[in-house]
Amino acid sequence: MSRAWHRSVLGAAVLGMGVLLTGTSAGAGSVDKTPFGNTQDGKAVNLYTLTNDRGASVKFIAYGGIITAINVPDRWGKLDNVVLGFKELADYESMNPYFGALIGRYGNRIGGAKFTLDGTQYQLAANNGPNSLHGGTKGFDKVVWAVEPLSGVSGAAARLNYTSKDGEEGYPGTLTVQVVYSLTNDNELRIDYEATTDKPTVVNLTSHSYFNLAGDGTGGIDDHILTISADRYTPVDATLIPTGQLASVTGTPFDFRQGAPIGARIRSNDPQMAYGRGYDHNFVLNRSGSGLSLAARVYEPRSGRIMEISTTEPGVQFYSGNFLDSTLIGAAGQQYRQTDGFCLETQHFPDSPNKPSFPTTVLKPGETLKSTTIHKFSTDAS
Ligand code: GLA
Repeated sequence: MSRAWHRSVLGAAVLGMGVLLTGTSAGAGSVDKTPFGNTQDGKAVNLYTLTNDRGASVKFIAYGGIITAINVPDRWGKLDNVVLGFKELADYESMNPYFGALIGRYGNRIGGAKFTLDGTQYQLAANNGPNSLHGGTKGFDKVVWAVEPLSGVSGAAARLNYTSKDGEEGYPGTLTVQVVYSLTNDNELRIDYEATTDKPTVVNLTSHSYFNLAGDGTGGIDDHILTISADRYTPVDATLIPTGQLASVTGTPFDFRQGAPIGARIRSNDPQMAYGRGYDHNFVLNRSGSGLSLAARVYEPRSGRIMEISTTEPGVQFYSGNFLDSTLIGAAGQQYRQTDGFCLETQHFPDSPNKPSFPTTVLKPGETLKSTTIHKFSTDAS
């Protein structure tokens, strides 16, 4: 299957839009920049705030492209931060379980930490049992991105650039990556990814925010009502590598087609739930065509907040924060316990480089990877 089928033409349209202006906006949205400290090896890191004309904001840092806050209204109009995060750069550097980060070169796992492309075997860092997770030892979540503020007619935006050297973390080819974060005046966080390579390689880019729509630090996410547009999911082995099967969700805890509280079946004795200590699985999105299509919807009844995720990607990893173990202290001073946040990482399927039947993650010279994911925030009052 060609890599082009899922690539968004919409992403290309926005990235190429002449209406985007550099610098802070005169009018609607704004982009602010403040220092956020230095990395352990002395690189200055800035914190950027995108604010739209409704007062919603998204904050991110150049280190890892990490989204540190998403402030959106509840049903009474009160803004709260709906993502987990830390206070200090040092915490992001030393103990981050990928909170808010850009993930690459390969989001999720590659089995046995190796793959073969055009007859050559590539060895990756085994940083998750026998497997390679989220790009290896120093993935895109741990590098400092070059950031350029942009402003558009609707909301505010910034472009992040990173060039990954040939052989970095064991992957072939120099990979040039560009990510645009936009906060529109419709309270949509839009993430547009682009990448090119000078040698055939594999790529799977995603964003790893942990959400709690009641607000960061307000407790567990069991009561959030989740809908996922997926008739099938990819069951895994004990090390969370897909078996290759596309299994029906019917009659399993993975059936979120009608909407269900996250906590309703999380303690089920389905063996798949034991492997992930909860949900840590890739869903095969129901989609027609290659454009944006609705992947998931999450509703939090107390605050009335709703998040709808649309994507051009074929899959989404639903992770219920199972490895949070009360050892991390968040920005608001509270402990993060198991299932205090959830992730919905839009992506190609895990271990695709070793699974020829899955949609391909191979990127070749001359091709441009384009991928778009939109998080639309609203409430049951709007
Ligand atoms: C992904 C993985 C999980 C876990 C988190 C980070 O969601 O699928 O298993 O590693 O990242 O802790």
